[in-house]
Amino acid sequence: MKKKPLVLGLMVVALFYFAGAYYLYRKLLFPNLAPRDVLTYIWVVITGFLLFLAFTLYYLFTFRQQLREEKDRQRKSCTKLQQANEGALKALIHALDYRDHDTWDHSRRVAAYATVLAEHMGLPQSELNKIALAGYLHDIGKIGVPDRILLKPTKLLPEEWETIKRHPELGYDIIQQLEFLNTAAEIILLHHERYDGSGYPLGLKGHKIPLLARIFAVADALDAMTSERPYRAARPMTEAFAEIRRLSGVQFCPQCVKALEELGVEKLSEIQQSVKKQGMVKLRLEDLVPCSDYL
Ligand SMILES: [Fe+2]
Ligand SMILES: [Fe+2]
Repeated sequence: MKKKPLVLGLMVVALFYFAGAYYLYRKLLFPNLAPRDVLTYIWVVITGFLLFLAFTLYYLFTFRQQLREEKDRQRKSCTKLQQANEGALKALIHALDYRDHDTWDHSRRVAAYATVLAEHMGLPQSELNKIALAGYLHDIGKIGVPDRILLKPTKLLPEEWETIKRHPELGYDIIQQLEFLNTAAEIILLHHERYDGSGYPLGLKGHKIPLLARIFAVADALDAMTSERPYRAARPMTEAFAEIRRLSGVQFCPQCVKALEELGVEKLSEIQQSVKKQGMVKLRLEDLVPCSDYL
């Protein structure tokens, strides 16, 4: 509660109160009061004001105390909600990790690449959190892909690819159920869109694909190319860079490819190594769950 308006308010009330008392004295009581009664009158006026002041302050302080207790209760409820949200996020991530550990490793690297790329492009912290969260969860829809396809050691048949291609929508459906993860849902849905409009599931083209999803596509592809697959070996970072450069304006947004080149092969290789050693880079999962203002 702010003190300045309270003091000013009390001063205005006091001014009116004493002006009224003086008016009463001058206009009505002055001819009839003896000097002793004047002192009694002043005493009554001052006591009346002090009583008013005491009651006002008492109620204001009680009100402030109640406000504090209410805020405290809300803070505790928010902490519990926050813990529940973190638990739900970890449960989802564990589910993906147990289902397919390679996908989880890939998710952590993509989260790191995408965050650094978005940071380099000058995006604010709130957007970095969104893209990091999407990094961890973008392939969560693969939970819905049968093992015989997801874990197939040889090249996929066209119809098997069609099943795999459903994972952005499946992931979007899963993430949409949890309000606190909604911020990442759009990137999850659109992470396989291509700049020329030949991607899936919506076939969006150019800048119709949101910037975060365009950045994400570069990070995702970079890791896909530099990771080992059951049916092919990992490609060196320099080769992956050359391939992304070749596909600038076709599969990838030129603005994002330019940012990747500015970051350079060395920096991205460093990130790759730190994710391998430390698990997660910079942003912890707990930091990605949106916080309430009370916390
Ligand atoms: Fe994917
Ligand atoms: Fe991916």
